[in-house]
Amino acid sequence: MTADDAMTAVTPAPRQFWIAGRSATGTGVTVVRHPYDGSEVASVSVPGEEQVERAVSAAADVAAAFRGTPAHERAGALEHVAKRLVERTEEIAEVITAENGKPLRWARLEVARAANTFRFAAEEARRFTGELMRLDTDPAAEGRMAMVRRVPRGPVLGIAPFNFPLNLVAHKVAPALAVGAPVIIKPAPRTPLSALLLGELLAETKLPEGAFSVLPIGNEATMELVRDPRLPVVSFTGSGPVGWSIMDAAPRKHVVLELGGNGAAVVCGDWTDLDFAAQRIALFSNYQAGQSCIAVQRVIVDRSIADDFTARLVEAVRELRTGNPHDPEVEVGPLVDEAAAERVEEWINEATAAGAKVLVGGEREGATVAPTVLVDVPSDAKVWAEEIFGPVLAVSVAEGVDDAFAQVNASAYGLQAGVFTRDVQVAFRAAAELEVGGVIIGDVPSYRADQMPYGGVKSSGFGREGVSSTMDDFTEEKVMVLTGIRL
Ligand code: SIN
Repeated sequence: MTADDAMTAVTPAPRQFWIAGRSATGTGVTVVRHPYDGSEVASVSVPGEEQVERAVSAAADVAAAFRGTPAHERAGALEHVAKRLVERTEEIAEVITAENGKPLRWARLEVARAANTFRFAAEEARRFTGELMRLDTDPAAEGRMAMVRRVPRGPVLGIAPFNFPLNLVAHKVAPALAVGAPVIIKPAPRTPLSALLLGELLAETKLPEGAFSVLPIGNEATMELVRDPRLPVVSFTGSGPVGWSIMDAAPRKHVVLELGGNGAAVVCGDWTDLDFAAQRIALFSNYQAGQSCIAVQRVIVDRSIADDFTARLVEAVRELRTGNPHDPEVEVGPLVDEAAAERVEEWINEATAAGAKVLVGGEREGATVAPTVLVDVPSDAKVWAEEIFGPVLAVSVAEGVDDAFAQVNASAYGLQAGVFTRDVQVAFRAAAELEVGGVIIGDVPSYRADQMPYGGVKSSGFGREGVSSTMDDFTEEKVMVLTGIRL
């Protein structure tokens, strides 16, 4: 099969959505277009008001019973999804590439990660027990003990972004089901297909009716759900302005926000393997065309190695293979649409007008922006100060570790940072001093394992994902005190 055939393998056909575990056809239709060439990938049925209401009331109705289902049933359902994701990897990866434009190699990885996310959730569901706490720490409480367990806060509304249309949906669905909380997923408008496919796998399980719904609805209908008191938890991944407006609209709800970042990689003077650092940074500023919240955007390199490192970085960026994302050799594909690419191009132009120099890249063709490296970027240029979400790196020179860390922290965002050092003192300083949710030593900020806590500080949001962190987040502690017992 050629790359062009593969692109048409996802044929136009109206896709049904999922209400309370059953497939349904709605009142409207939306079209999903291929980011690479704008061709129609599929049409998707859009639920009407009455159908959305059915999903919400089913979630509310099943919540009490679902939280009481035995762990083995929930774990079994999650394991089933993990297994089916693995079995259908190639097909699902093609769907991800077709709707999102990320190269097939990254789409395959995303399916593997989503399978892991479900597998971890199955394991955690079996372990999710709570603890005993002795209370006889003062004379008045002799013979007393507390049993502390976590119970679901209630049905979860998960609002997912386009950049990982499967795995970031999995990070909301799998932990919710693991704790016995019904979940309603609202996929990103450009990339609903992977979430709908996940609905198909969930529908193969024996989860109770109402345990999950996948609703490809618009923004207005979503805000209605955000305000709906029957959905007390809102888990959002996406842009800052939308995230904070959700928070404002639902001040009494438990809201988790995974927002953006302008990920920094620091290359310290003690780091000797400059090729390794250059190749990792080149790849992970451009993977998914830079459309990851933890893609490398800012590189801060010690003056003692700056010239040597920058030359290697430019070479590594030049060597990245761009093109049709269905070609398994391609490393960098298009952005999600032409408007996104135009915005990235504007930001590059704004930086060069303010004095930045382009060492490689800088051009745009349709939705594709060539991998770009900039130097001499003013610190208030958007390519440095905002989240670019595009294949662009800005390189800055630092006068030692203090200066490098100060540059990392001089940002409104704080998601993850990478520090290339072998000096254990510097590593501990990085963990203590960098204002981020996660520090990666010896690698790029883009590293994420799906079981580890993941989330940011400052404008990057709050709350943590990662399977067991999300399970904690979707639940609250409930105490039962036992009296008159022998300890
Ligand atoms: C994100 O863009 O926030 C997710 C990154 C990842 O899961 O690797």
